[in-house]
Amino acid sequence: MSARARPYTHITARIHHYTSCGRPPVRSIHVCVPFPEIASALTTSRVRLHLQRHDGWPTKEPGSDRVEFYAMPHPPSASSFDALVALPHLRVIQLLTSGVDQALPRIPAHLIVCNAPSLHSQATAEAAMTHILAVLADVVTWVGAQRERRWATLGPRKSLAGSHALLVGYGHVGKALHAMLRGFDVSVVPMARTQHPGVAAISELHRWLPTADIVVVSAPLTTATRGLIGASELVLMKSGAVLVNVSRGAVVDTAALERELRQRRLYAALDVTDPEPLPSDHPLWTCPQLLISPHVGGNTSGFRERAATFLRKQIEKYASGAGLEYIVRGPRKADGGPGSTSRGLDSALFRRS
Ligand SMILES: NC(=O)c1ccc[n+]([C@@H]2O[C@H](COP(=O)([O-])OP(=O)(O)OC[C@H]3O[C@@H](n4cnc5c(N)ncnc54)[C@H](OP(=O)(O)O)[C@@H]3O)[C@@H](O)[C@H]2O)c1
Repeated sequence: MSARARPYTHITARIHHYTSCGRPPVRSIHVCVPFPEIASALTTSRVRLHLQRHDGWPTKEPGSDRVEFYAMPHPPSASSFDALVALPHLRVIQLLTSGVDQALPRIPAHLIVCNAPSLHSQATAEAAMTHILAVLADVVTWVGAQRERRWATLGPRKSLAGSHALLVGYGHVGKALHAMLRGFDVSVVPMARTQHPGVAAISELHRWLPTADIVVVSAPLTTATRGLIGASELVLMKSGAVLVNVSRGAVVDTAALERELRQRRLYAALDVTDPEPLPSDHPLWTCPQLLISPHVGGNTSGFRERAATFLRKQIEKYASGAGLEYIVRGPRKADGGPGSTSRGLDSALFRRS
């Protein structure tokens, strides 16, 4: 998501569960959420809200020190991490991102951390589709010619139909992209950490790379994936193939990619870069055959409404004890990354989707 800072008003919501016959609350929890849309989403549920405004730092208002479920702003701000240490009753941090590589190290280890991959899957897959089509059609040249009022007659553009795509990472984003590519008559090889029916294991990456016209990376940044697409992988890609990265910049070796692009052997589209934001004097800006977007993959219209619906479900699950979804780190699990499970938790309340 875009690293642009946006002013968020936090709301501390006090939730009371009433029994059906109107007896006093059987459970009362305090949650902190980053935008007002959550309030209207929660009024449709079986919880009752009392709102308290604050700015990311714990409020001085009564009850705010009892927050136990904290939804991070999107993108998280430095002050929101600082705020966590001042909340003695905190149990759950709900991220509104899918990637957890930046947030996880900044969250105290005793807290349960959940991410929100379902919020961004369609949007990020759309971004990847946009990249693929834009590179194949050489849209950058169209735009340049249009700016110069020049009727530039180009050669035939590359067709997406009939091509082969390798999806490195087959989670929420990879699956959403696969569904889109089906409509474009693209044959797809999905690839995840381990082999499942119809999904190849990442250990077979070198076998599949030379077969692909398009390689899309949507695996999380972990110690295992840092530099996953490096010089020896790029050299295996077909000449003229397209690399699209919508995951995290450091999953691709930037220097190795730059070398391939300068030789005009590959095409690439990057929604994410290493470093990020990309400094204005970075050599990637001047690479040929490269399209860069500023980490906008999941950032589409309707995000707040989607996030409000998502948060309502998570808060209700937490409040009712039905089990949180998307747990990436439990209280006793020091590991991280979206693939880590909640097996370290001792409570049956929490399950991983
Ligand atoms: N550009 C953006 O704005 C944007 C938006 C959303 C997400 N993202 C990035 O995209 C990443 C993926 O998002 P998602 O929602 O699709 O996550 P996800 O649902 O957790 O799926 C991740 C996929 O990556 C695979 N994977 C994990 N480690 C791997 C490894 N070592 N080698 C190969 N594959 C591996 C997983 O394999 P298994 O199924 O075997 O575990 C899974 O298929 C996020 O972590 C985030 O960094 C970026």
